[in-house]
Amino acid sequence: MFEIQQTKANAHSRRIRMAEINITPEGKPLAHPAPRAPRIFADTAAYEEIEPLYRAGIINGVTTNPTLMKRAGAANWDDVETISKRICELLHPNPVSLELTEVSQDKMIEQAEHLGSWAENVIIKVPIGGYQALDPNLDPYTGLKVIRALWERNIKTNCTLIFNSTQALWAANAGATYVSPFLGRMADYARKNDSADRTVGNSLYWVEEQPTAPEDQRVLNTEYVASGGARKDTGSRLINEIAVVFTNYDIHTEILAASFRNAAQVTECLLAGADILTVPAPILAKVADHALTDEGMIRFVEDSKVFDTQSASA
Ligand code: G3P
Repeated sequence: MFEIQQTKANAHSRRIRMAEINITPEGKPLAHPAPRAPRIFADTAAYEEIEPLYRAGIINGVTTNPTLMKRAGAANWDDVETISKRICELLHPNPVSLELTEVSQDKMIEQAEHLGSWAENVIIKVPIGGYQALDPNLDPYTGLKVIRALWERNIKTNCTLIFNSTQALWAANAGATYVSPFLGRMADYARKNDSADRTVGNSLYWVEEQPTAPEDQRVLNTEYVASGGARKDTGSRLINEIAVVFTNYDIHTEILAASFRNAAQVTECLLAGADILTVPAPILAKVADHALTDEGMIRFVEDSKVFDTQSASA
């Protein structure tokens, strides 16, 4: 069971800096009750999935990545541009994250400026790390340097591929507008690799890369989050941990929970204190559904038919 750490103490001062999504027009007597509700984005590049969700008021943002672009049918950069511009136009002024694919600082900044020229609501998605996994000669701080450089240029960023709260903190320090922790991939990892009889080297939180190193050098700061053994809710706990850290330090980088596998994770993220949830369309398609809602609705409509058949008594 997911144990929530409350973020209440300073939460208001943090949330107050974030955009109101349900704006009450001036002079309207019935103010909207949820001006700062968490935003919901669609995690897809498929226009046909995005459009009905946007028109229904279910989403107010979109996140994409190269995998989602490919899945949406993009076969080259021209396709990526066409797809991106179409989504941005529909969503304007709401944010649309487009991910950088270059891996060196100068080229990433150049690419960010190019993607940003497509529409004013583009958010530049920057991978936090992994650069040396691609090429040991690359700078491990490339992502953070790019985020900082884009912040200096007043360009909004979404720092992606976050799997622990210190990555989130470094991203915030660099100036990221959003951080995207991938809770579904953590849950996948837990299901596959975690075991109740946890041993050093079987960390969900830090996936150690040096299993042959002396034990004390492998543990890093695993113990806190991972000490519970096999936990399928490890992703939600990560979100909660970032929320507590960001609240404690009044960091207004927004926590954009990503990589959802099911509706239960949506609930867990709301409890955990995520600011934004980016959710795949098949999960969003069911937000208004519940088996008991169906049952109740059928009964209400059925029972109401009697009113149509009886005439009013005098
Ligand atoms: O927004 C990030 C997300 O697209 C990653 O999701 O399903 O590939 O783990 P997934």
